[in-house]
Amino acid sequence: MNTIVEDRGVLIDDVRRKAVYEAVTSRRAVRGFTAQPVPREALERVLSGARWSPSGSNLQPWHTYVLTGAPLAELKKLALKRVAAGDPWDEREYEMYPPALKSPYSERRSAFGKERYSALGIAREDWEARQRAALANWDCFGSPAALFCYVDRDLGLPQWADVGMYLQTVMLLLRAEGLHSCPQMAWSQVRKTVAQILSPPDGLILFCGMSIGYEDVTVGYIRTRRAPLDETVTFTDG
Ligand SMILES: Cc1cc2nc3c(=O)[nH]c(=O)nc-3n(C[C@H](O)[C@H](O)[C@H](O)COP(=O)(O)O)c2cc1C
Repeated sequence: MNTIVEDRGVLIDDVRRKAVYEAVTSRRAVRGFTAQPVPREALERVLSGARWSPSGSNLQPWHTYVLTGAPLAELKKLALKRVAAGDPWDEREYEMYPPALKSPYSERRSAFGKERYSALGIAREDWEARQRAALANWDCFGSPAALFCYVDRDLGLPQWADVGMYLQTVMLLLRAEGLHSCPQMAWSQVRKTVAQILSPPDGLILFCGMSIGYEDVTVGYIRTRRAPLDETVTFTDG
């Protein structure tokens, strides 16, 4: 049965409903892209749409830089060179994770690692192969487009959360264009190399990069799972 809900003149029918859920469930961290260029107009539509993301007091605290073509190729080259040379990471401007991750997060991280590397046929204890796979971050997994999202260093945790919502909106709208993405905090580890290409103002902290492109469907993956609903949601019914 087609359940239709009327919302201020917009009819939400099964087709619309399905499209929204599909955008959410078909988004995943894609780690293999083709070289097919991403149309500039598609990126403009997506980033224009993502401006409608919510933020506390409508601060819109995101600062986005889009890279394609020669500047992206240069960034990939510099980052790969740097990482291959064994350069230490740039000093952190924020901690990616607490040093001791407690339960249940540590178990979830281990499960993710197992899924990620078994999709690539890499044994858990094969540290070198895992490092090689991680190197693909610096090639943006082959993507011809990427964005880098910064947040003002004078803003606080709630604004960082706003930036997260914005990035999810970007990723969902990319699905509407047939595009995929992979958000990458990894780029914060070489933020100075990113800054060399982008020259952002001093007052900004790089939260993450995001590879954007058309999926290379020959690259295997295992869909990451999620904790059951009752592990993360509590309903208190009246
Ligand atoms: C803020 C953020 C940073 C991430 N950083 C990286 C990264 O540096 N490299 C990477 O391969 N994946 C990265 N991911 C992808 C996550 O590993 C992925 O979202 C998670 O395992 C869930 O899988 P899914 O997105 O495929 O559903 C990041 C995701 C988020 C939200």
